Amino acid sequence: MATDLRQIANAVLTARAAKPVVFAVALVPLFWTLWLAYSGELGAEPVLESVKQSGLWALRFLLVALAVTPLRMLTGVAALARLRRMIGLFAFFYAAVHLSTYIGLDQYFDWPAIWKDIVKRPYITVGMGAILILTALALTSTNGMVKRLGGKRWRALHKGVFVAGLAGCLHFIMLVKGWQTTPLVYAALCVGLLAFRRWPLRLPNARKEPRTRPAAAPGSEAAPAPRFADGSSPARRS
Ligand code: HEM
Repeated sequence: MATDLRQIANAVLTARAAKPVVFAVALVPLFWTLWLAYSGELGAEPVLESVKQSGLWALRFLLVALAVTPLRMLTGVAALARLRRMIGLFAFFYAAVHLSTYIGLDQYFDWPAIWKDIVKRPYITVGMGAILILTALALTSTNGMVKRLGGKRWRALHKGVFVAGLAGCLHFIMLVKGWQTTPLVYAALCVGLLAFRRWPLRLPNARKEPRTRPAAAPGSEAAPAPRFADGSSPARRS
């Protein structure tokens, strides 16, 4: 039964339409926010609300990207890895929208004021750190960059996604007043996902599926070679 479900999930995720569908779904928050802004339903402070929405979606996509490997290991659905690069790039995309909205619509390109914010407000400094890491990961997310950097260096660089995730959560915790539940829930999820990488749960029936193909993406620290769910390579196991 579990094997059937796994096969169905793998078939769905490797179908030609899978990536375009995920791409379209990932754009929904952007168009929904634009629609609310256009129809005047974004609240009393529409600019601040758009900054908040784009920031939230950047963090959500980042956490989903971080969840791909644990999910794949738990379920044995190897084809999940196909979506990791796209999801990671959407985290970067929403972070870029977040930053652009802040710079253009919130601060009106007042560079001295923006610089003052970066230096004086620690949550902005931390957010800036997160976005710099995400930019480096997005720029090196192509297959060409994996080749150019070499697997070892590329993987080391892409471990930065963990730092970006933690920095995004810290940014959120720092900018709200007091200890609020939502940012702490995001941070707990992030720490839980990182802990899973360190101490993965091993489900015996999840070990049958080797990884499909390398995925170079923000949100991915995977080795660019087919591997089993427990991290060993098919060559070593056979
Ligand atoms: C230079 C980079 C960044 C700047 C300048 C920045 C700035 C801001 C500002 C001004 C706010 C609104 C604060 C308020 O409520 O008064 C905000 C909120 C937020 N930002 Fe950022 N941010 C940056 C990077 C990031 C990144 C990389 C992420 C995620 C990975 C992120 C996630 C969030 C979240 C989740 C919120 C809170 C949304 C809410 O209140 O519901 N930010 N940011």
